[in-house]
Amino acid sequence: MQEYFNNFKLETTSIWSFPNRGNWATHSGSFRGNWSPYIPKNLILRYTKENDWILDPFLGSGTTAVESALLNRNCIGVDINPKTIQIAKKNMEAIETSCHIIIKHGNACNMNFIKNNSIDLICLHPPYCNIIKYSKDIEDDLSLLNEEEYYKKMCIVASESYRVLKKQKYLAVLIADMRRNGNIIPLGFNVMKIFQSIGFTLKEIVIKEQHNCRSTEKWEGIIKKQCFLLIKHEYLLIFKK
Ligand SMILES: C[S@@+](CC[C@H](N)C(=O)[O-])C[C@H]1O[C@@H](n2cnc3c(N)ncnc32)[C@H](O)[C@@H]1O
Repeated sequence: MQEYFNNFKLETTSIWSFPNRGNWATHSGSFRGNWSPYIPKNLILRYTKENDWILDPFLGSGTTAVESALLNRNCIGVDINPKTIQIAKKNMEAIETSCHIIIKHGNACNMNFIKNNSIDLICLHPPYCNIIKYSKDIEDDLSLLNEEEYYKKMCIVASESYRVLKKQKYLAVLIADMRRNGNIIPLGFNVMKIFQSIGFTLKEIVIKEQHNCRSTEKWEGIIKKQCFLLIKHEYLLIFKK
């Protein structure tokens, strides 16, 4: 674990790329659509101090909770899928920590169990609209919504996040664009505008290179025949309240 702290360099530019996604502690790539632990690690180290409170409203397999614990921060992680909550809890089991790690089944659109102005950093990794479906029929699972409904729910998530974040503190969203009928749907910029419209100030747009996407092979065949580029980046949008 000493290596974990010694060999790490904080990102200093607006392009992030992690070819080795990070497999320390209980991290692995096995949960479809999880983020590299280097992302929450960078955010936590840059924007918080020990014992601060981190919130991840789309916790998934628990990457942010594990990183918070390893870095001596408290964390609240929320996910709408009870099966996913079990995965996150299992990934946390082996991590020794004296911090508070709260893993809660809930909805990012209604976090009424969190007080106003109480969180030091929010790390959001929502579904990229309906590109990957995270459940079959869970109400308010954002991955089951069409684009219009998705933006409406994202407005609610943004205002809930604004409510619980302390003033002068940071929120980050990882998001990617989509392609429909050969054209780009700029999901990233649309989500960016939603967070700005709620009152957040945009501090950074980081381009995150995508590696090892499960669907790359399938798309490489398709783009050979058609005239468009394979999307190989995501946006990490960083805002301040
Ligand atoms: C992209 S994944 C997050 C992956 C996570 N960063 C990780 O490393 O495992 C998105 C997650 O959002 C959850 N989700 C979808 N709609 C939600 C909602 N309304 N409230 C809370 N979680 C939701 C899904 O169940 C899924 O686990």
